[in-house]
Amino acid sequence: MLVLKPLPLNPKPFLLNKPILPKTPTPQTLKPHPRPRPRPRPRTIPSVLQWNRKPELAGDTPRVVVITSGKGGVGKTTTTANVGLSLARLGFSVVSVDADVGLRNLDLLLGLENRVNYTLVEVMNGDCRLDQALVRDKRWTNFELLCISKPRSKLPLGFGGKALVWLVESLKTRPEGSPDFILIDCPAGIDAGFITAITPANEAVLVTTPDITSLRDADRVTGLLECDGIRDIKMIVNRVRTDMIKGEDMMSVLDVQEMLGLALLGVIPEDSEVIRSTNRGYPLVLNKPPTLAGLAFEQAAWRLVEQDSMKAVMVEEEPKKRGFFSFFGG
Ligand SMILES: Nc1ncnc2c1ncn2[C@@H]1O[C@H](COP(=O)(O)OP(=O)(O)OP(=O)(O)O)[C@@H](O)[C@H]1O
Ligand SMILES: [Mg+2]
Repeated sequence: MLVLKPLPLNPKPFLLNKPILPKTPTPQTLKPHPRPRPRPRPRTIPSVLQWNRKPELAGDTPRVVVITSGKGGVGKTTTTANVGLSLARLGFSVVSVDADVGLRNLDLLLGLENRVNYTLVEVMNGDCRLDQALVRDKRWTNFELLCISKPRSKLPLGFGGKALVWLVESLKTRPEGSPDFILIDCPAGIDAGFITAITPANEAVLVTTPDITSLRDADRVTGLLECDGIRDIKMIVNRVRTDMIKGEDMMSVLDVQEMLGLALLGVIPEDSEVIRSTNRGYPLVLNKPPTLAGLAFEQAAWRLVEQDSMKAVMVEEEPKKRGFFSFFGG
């Protein structure tokens, strides 16, 4: 019988009630990245899901990552919210940009909808300052949300990729320092909104579900990202159901990987908690105790920090006794 079994590249997670230690600079972060001023970080973080070490930030900051898919409704916004908050819980400063013009919902998933007074469109029009449009999360003060436009509005003429490039440059030169991560929640499709969202990015996370329509769109988007010069593309396979894979009613993650030929950032199981947390405006990764999907998002965030990937393999037989962490290869 075929069973999905991702190989663990990171140690198993466990819960600690210790504060996160201040980030130790690595030669990689020191070299090319002149920070204007040291960024104030939360001094102590009470109870945080973490590994037995802190991930080392790879690459130059800010890491500008677009979360895209091609097909709609596959979990881009869910991924942006959960990976973003996981990164914040790991001690990194994060700005999440909802680039879904007219149909934004990242604010809802984060429970921040009542605090969005201004958007990037108003900043660009000169109606407010950038810091007024950035909404700081009260749970994790190193996490900020920026919405591109008001719900149901259209992208104004002349507003395009250049606006987001300006945004990234402005965030880099903020008095409190550049954020470590800028995550851009991309709209579905491959039209103007998609082009705008990918323009400032230098890496991409492609979210797909294991179905043929989503894969075809993901393949098309991969080509467009590469044409735009984005070489670092990793994928998250979302809504995976091992029971359906076993019954050969769903493609395995290995099949998906072979079809798309992309490095695997994470595998997220189908989990009813995702829908519950979406409706509560309380991202899954904050749940205690953590759920399978929450842990999978935490793992994906960890790999994103270290520019790491995982491997999906098929095993011949289902192990007799499967523990809580067996989904993750533990
Ligand atoms: N792993 C999962 N298990 C169960 N439900 C999920 C999972 N991931 C996402 N969902 C649900 O799928 C729906 C779509 O998710 P989401 O809004 O994140 O997709 P999207 O790609 O951002 O959509 P759009 O293209 O419209 O922006 C939501 O109702 C969400 O709760
Ligand atoms: Mg969305």
